[in-house]
Amino acid sequence: MEIKMANLTKIFISKDKKEVHAVDHVDLVIPSGKLIGLLGPSGCGKSTTLYLIAGLLRQTEGEIYFGEEEMSETPPEKRGIGLVFQNYALYPHMTVRENILFPLENLKVEKEEAKKRTFEMAKLVGLEEMLDRKPKELSGGQQQRVAIARALVKTPRVLLLDEPLSNLDARLRLQTREEIKRIQRETKITTVFVTHDQEEAMSISDEIVVMKDGIIQQMGEPQEVYDKPTNLFVAKFLGNPQINVFDGEIKNKEILIENMFVGKRDLPDQKVFIGVRPEGFIIDQENKSSFHFKVDLVETIGRDTTLIFDMQDDSINILDKKTFKAIIDAGFRIKAGDVVHFNIKPEKMHLFDINGTIL
Ligand SMILES: Nc1ncnc2c1ncn2[C@@H]1O[C@H](COP(=O)(O)OP(=O)(O)OP(=O)(O)O)[C@@H](O)[C@H]1O
Ligand SMILES: [Mg+2]
Repeated sequence: MEIKMANLTKIFISKDKKEVHAVDHVDLVIPSGKLIGLLGPSGCGKSTTLYLIAGLLRQTEGEIYFGEEEMSETPPEKRGIGLVFQNYALYPHMTVRENILFPLENLKVEKEEAKKRTFEMAKLVGLEEMLDRKPKELSGGQQQRVAIARALVKTPRVLLLDEPLSNLDARLRLQTREEIKRIQRETKITTVFVTHDQEEAMSISDEIVVMKDGIIQQMGEPQEVYDKPTNLFVAKFLGNPQINVFDGEIKNKEILIENMFVGKRDLPDQKVFIGVRPEGFIIDQENKSSFHFKVDLVETIGRDTTLIFDMQDDSINILDKKTFKAIIDAGFRIKAGDVVHFNIKPEKMHLFDINGTIL
């Protein structure tokens, strides 16, 4: 089921009578059968977007379509959605079986059919052996899988997940997100997965939507958005360690960081922000005219070595931070205090104008 949002807007009036534009003129198509990660910092409007799709909130302006059908007048229970929240919200006195079955009782589904579907859903989420347990006898990840089974048992047209993994510890979070991915692949149900964790969104989603202040910044396949961010916000939001952002300039078609040549671009002279992914530096100790700095800290973990450069005492400006990081092959013999000369891979370097828009 394709979901289309057209000019979708939600304005809240806060206690002190100020307007909060939680969702601001959003135009977005969520393709049928895909898993979309809705991603952005706290307060950017992710949950509000989800609740508008679900019909739990009424939009101030704009439309939501499921396929060709405009949904504004359709109440939540008639929209054919399955919802899963951060806190599993299972009925504690009921068994796993009763929890999954519950929505079907409301729909007055015939008993044998309901039993069969409950078992199928339990099997889908890998809990068919635990049907007689109570929620408190399950791990957090298992409880969340019951919540997913319960959301899916009505065979909804759309599955909406609001930070479903954030109450789980790191290992369970990884495991459960793989489960969600598998379940979505098997059921092919159109799914919107809300998270503020970029790594989680990147790993699970067919496409990600990055949001800020109620406005969609970019939508695309995770790798495509990572490789081709449309603005500085998106570039900084994706990737760990974060992209390094230097103050720089274009002069005679040369890209300069503090008068050091780092590349060429056919652009007019101007001040720019230069974003370089940590994996974008190539060591070239022979090239004495290249970008170079004294390394302050060397951390080797497995295959990778991270070089950390402290810029406190340099005149160079790095946005928000006083260090920059380069990830290099662990094979290089570099130690703290060495001066390191770099070339920068052009495809890992992104230029932004002073407003943060990609150049
Ligand atoms: N009922 C409400 N009344 C007033 N303002 C609200 C209401 N609900 C949300 N907001 C505001 O709308 C904006 C978006 O909130 P929303 O809950 O959608 O953010 P979010 O992206 O889900 O954040 P988080 O990651 O913290 O869950 C925020 O500024 C929030 O304070
Ligand atoms: Mg939220």
